[in-house]
Amino acid sequence: MSDETQTEARPKKLFIKTYGCQMNVYDSDRMADALAPHAYEPVQSAEDADLVVLNTCHIREKASEKVFSELGRLKEMRDLRRAEGSDLMIGVAGCVAQAEGEEIVRRQPAVNLVFGPQSYHRLPELLTRAHNGSQVVETEFPTEDKFAHLPAAKREVTLARGLTAFLTVQEGCDKFCSFCVVPYTRGAETSRPLEQVLSEARSLADGGVRELTLLGQNVNAYHGLDKAGRTVGLGELCYRLAEIPGIARIRYTTSHPLDMSEELIAAHRDLDALMPYLHLPVQSGSDRILKAMNRRHTTAEYLAVIERIKAARPDMALSGDFIVGFPGETDADFEQTLEIARLTGYASAFTFKYSIRPGTPGATMDNQVAEAVKVERLARLNAQIMGQTRDFAQSCVGRILPVLIEKPGRNPGQVGGRSPYLQAVHMEGPTRLIGQIIPVEIVAVGNNSLAGKIVTDAELKSASLSQSVANAVPA
Ligand code: SAH
Ligand code: SF4
Ligand code: F3S
Repeated sequence: MSDETQTEARPKKLFIKTYGCQMNVYDSDRMADALAPHAYEPVQSAEDADLVVLNTCHIREKASEKVFSELGRLKEMRDLRRAEGSDLMIGVAGCVAQAEGEEIVRRQPAVNLVFGPQSYHRLPELLTRAHNGSQVVETEFPTEDKFAHLPAAKREVTLARGLTAFLTVQEGCDKFCSFCVVPYTRGAETSRPLEQVLSEARSLADGGVRELTLLGQNVNAYHGLDKAGRTVGLGELCYRLAEIPGIARIRYTTSHPLDMSEELIAAHRDLDALMPYLHLPVQSGSDRILKAMNRRHTTAEYLAVIERIKAARPDMALSGDFIVGFPGETDADFEQTLEIARLTGYASAFTFKYSIRPGTPGATMDNQVAEAVKVERLARLNAQIMGQTRDFAQSCVGRILPVLIEKPGRNPGQVGGRSPYLQAVHMEGPTRLIGQIIPVEIVAVGNNSLAGKIVTDAELKSASLSQSVANAVPA
């Protein structure tokens, strides 16, 4: 055997650093899977890696700029290695790659390859080109179906990889909110065919996954084709996923208020597996600002959607996203944002200062809000949301919630899991319960978690009367 074959056989080490949203987390796993047959094995740090890929996020300026400082550090690492006779390959994937393309190699020439989210299935081929010495920049939106070429997500549930998994069902966005880069970085809205999604879900369930989170930039716009060429919405997809043995919980994110179809709301009414916790961003409580943001709905319409959802599923809780300081936002507009957050009773929310994104309509609006005003509004909104989150947690005390037991607890004899509302719950219990969904009475609220007590069958029967009360919408 020649030396060359031996070098070929030595597995190369891959480190992917993931920024941004859950879809990037999913994508990073798919990239690792695509490279596994080419003898790349994952490692936990850049120091140990032959190839480092930054899977980047472009959503706000800070997220984007972080990438360039990280690239600076990687270049230094590469130079040190070269001095010692070895090397480091550097790749940039994700939304900054898509948005900046060539600009990345101009700003940091040490980068070997730049590739956007629509070319992940071609990563092995792009790497070969980079290994042959060319600097690769690949940001086309190809016409073929990336998912048909990428290995489907598989999972063997282990201590390191849990009982929950992401599954991308839809990608891209056609909504063009005036602050947002996603339609430019992820491209037009596309949905994976129904069978592809079902078969990936089955393979995850076979590996022991109990909870699926369906992902999409606009996940409730899902419109995949079935085998007969019929279009299937997210509601129907949920009914089909709930039939898969082993899948006990389904979540989806992120939804747009305009795409909450009747069928999806009916799925919330009918399916125990569909968790009563919905991320439904409103961004602002002012109709004037919503219009400028091109969200295409009013606050009244948003509240009406929530009312329909809660009528179908009374124990539904909500989370949201907010942007403060969008161009033209006055104190009065901001007060309305505080007001809608209160009216909706969010159990939690992500809050952001408006960040100017080049190329979006918001960037050239002439009534930009001063940074100091944004900072102050963000602090006020955060304080209110924190209070709401605490109130929601408090309202869970005394309720019996189904908890997916996920891992051993902090102390021996304890286990930890998640409520339907994604709250961490700790309780006394044997580790053989891991993987099961157990009724747990919430007894106290901790800092970032709830304390619970496992309810026995007998207790559950005698509690069934109060349970219907406990499951009612928290005041
Ligand atoms: N598709 C989702 C949002 C995806 S981006 C939706 O329509 O709601 C996630 C969140 O980032 C957005 O909901 C928004 O609150 C925030 N965001 C997006 N662009 C932003 C910007 N330019 N500045 C600040 N926050 C932004
Ligand atoms: Fe961005 Fe969401 Fe608006 Fe699409 S719907 S443009 S992803 S904020
Ligand atoms: Fe960021 Fe792209 Fe996700 S911009 S939020 S990584 S879709």
